[in-house]
Amino acid sequence: MLFSRRRWAVLISGRGSNLGALLDLRDGVDVALVVSSSPSAYGLLRARRAGVPTRVLPRPIDWPALDAELRALGVTHVFLAGFMRIVPETFVVAWENRLVNLHPSLLPKYPGLKSIERAFAADDDVGVTVHAVDAGVDTGPIVARRRSLNRPKGRGYSLELAELQVHIDEQRLVREVALKWSR
Ligand code: GRF
Repeated sequence: MLFSRRRWAVLISGRGSNLGALLDLRDGVDVALVVSSSPSAYGLLRARRAGVPTRVLPRPIDWPALDAELRALGVTHVFLAGFMRIVPETFVVAWENRLVNLHPSLLPKYPGLKSIERAFAADDDVGVTVHAVDAGVDTGPIVARRRSLNRPKGRGYSLELAELQVHIDEQRLVREVALKWSR
């Protein structure tokens, strides 16, 4: 049976471990383009190794040009996977319901930066969320969420352990969402 497949653009800024999780799915997920806000992002190497075309965004970012390029490539969905730039409202509206963001907390708690540190400092649960993007910062309808560690009680619990577990779970959640949305 033929499925109409989702065709993803993945936007990154750095290491790209979550991009790597998607690329590891190979034929399971169609990644048409990897877009980076930084020319030195390690994720660009991962993309090139996987044979996926890459783009480095100029400064200031030309959002209409990016929008046009994604459409020309037949991209249907956009994944913000560690993308550290603010996406303007015009782009958000243009890709409404087809633009998702990965965030390292159990949203709506701890939006913004240093989420794991803040949850840890508050002795709160840590986890991961993928949400549809709207005009706010880390707001928008939640697509999937995974609790990584419950409120810490045990000995040996540390910020490093929390971060490690969150990064493992981010990759699981990113794969889960992309696979679920791949047909
Ligand atoms: C992830 O922790 C993501 O949640 C955060 O930035 C990190 C990106 O990691 N916003 P990577 O570039 O995918 O390795």
